[in-house]
Amino acid sequence: MFRVNQDYLKLPGSYLFSTVARKQREYQAAHPEAEIIKLSIGDVTQPLAPAIVEALHGAVDEMAHAETFHGYAPDLGYEFLRSAMAKNDYQAKGCDIKADEIFISDGAKEDCGNIQEIFSKDSKIAVCDPVYPVYVDTNVMAGRTGTYDAAAGTWSNVIYMPCTKETNFAPELPKETPDIIYLCFPNNPTGSTVTKEQLQTWVDYANKTGAVIIYDAAYEAYISEKEVPHSIYECEGARTCAIEIRSFSKNAGFTGVRLSATVIPKDIKSGDVMLHSLWARRHGTKFNGTSYIIQKAGEAVYSDAGKEQLSAQVAYYMNNAKVIKEGLKDAGYNVSGGVNAPYIWLETPKGMTSWDFFDYLLDKANVVGTPGSGFGPSGEGYFRLTAFGTYESTVAAIERIKKM
Ligand code: MLT
Repeated sequence: MFRVNQDYLKLPGSYLFSTVARKQREYQAAHPEAEIIKLSIGDVTQPLAPAIVEALHGAVDEMAHAETFHGYAPDLGYEFLRSAMAKNDYQAKGCDIKADEIFISDGAKEDCGNIQEIFSKDSKIAVCDPVYPVYVDTNVMAGRTGTYDAAAGTWSNVIYMPCTKETNFAPELPKETPDIIYLCFPNNPTGSTVTKEQLQTWVDYANKTGAVIIYDAAYEAYISEKEVPHSIYECEGARTCAIEIRSFSKNAGFTGVRLSATVIPKDIKSGDVMLHSLWARRHGTKFNGTSYIIQKAGEAVYSDAGKEQLSAQVAYYMNNAKVIKEGLKDAGYNVSGGVNAPYIWLETPKGMTSWDFFDYLLDKANVVGTPGSGFGPSGEGYFRLTAFGTYESTVAAIERIKKM
């Protein structure tokens, strides 16, 4: 009889957003008349911007002619997109990142999940608590964690860095030294951020201890405050210790299009082995590239028209964030986030767990959100709402919550 990967069996239940979706489906089946508003998963609702659509059409037309047809994309991505990113996302902001240090991929979730493969199996990971579940779950699948303590909601052999109200939802340097540190700013789920000065302490710490930071910058387009860094490479020394993951899902609405990039500077080395070479080997072996059509759409993100249209789209979602935040405050909730991120993090009413509040909100307001405890034990007693809904549904959801 074949045997399965036992590490998968350690995972409790299903993936957080699958559980949320299942509960929503079950509620809808039992209450067919309910008009449910979904403010749970951070999935965009606005259509692709005209500049992107035009690029997509143009690329499809190219694929229709022998002279301009494209087969497999280059392993690491087309030069035109990698150069556009290097120039706009990094060099224009004073970050020393070159096009050949950028790997194009088909999703930040995929890259966040796969990147752990290039590290030794006995590496110790450190994660913020609460945290985007992909970082921990993929390390569980890889056999890098110990056992799950259901009562505590934690894994052995994982360093948890609590992000609480007391720390302004920022992590503190861990007492035990990790090999890999996952950081995500602006943060999912809390919507919090760190200043460049705070991020610099992480870079200094990683360089001092020999750890690598995996920096998830999926929400950087939502930063509105000057002191918040857009990239970890704004910090001195990040080239020797930090990998950065970029998404096109949240800044350009590509959740259903699929495009991302992972930056691995050639200066990150273990002895004389460059992490860059390992990821290139992995990419070449396991990935056949994001399609030409999608990479052309990605290039349009950096055109003048693309920049203007996408900044309007970000403003649209951030207006929703404001509606949610102000509305919840008026209704007496303690709320944070929503200033540099499209997520609002609220405290559940006294005596209610995160999942209690999920059920209550679904039943009383027909609004679906995400329970904070699904992101880790320090998320218990919190709840996340996303600003990625339409304006109309966001306003309606808040009106219903106010009436609860
Ligand atoms: C979230 O809701 O946390 C994110 O949308 C999930 C993701 O980006 O994969």
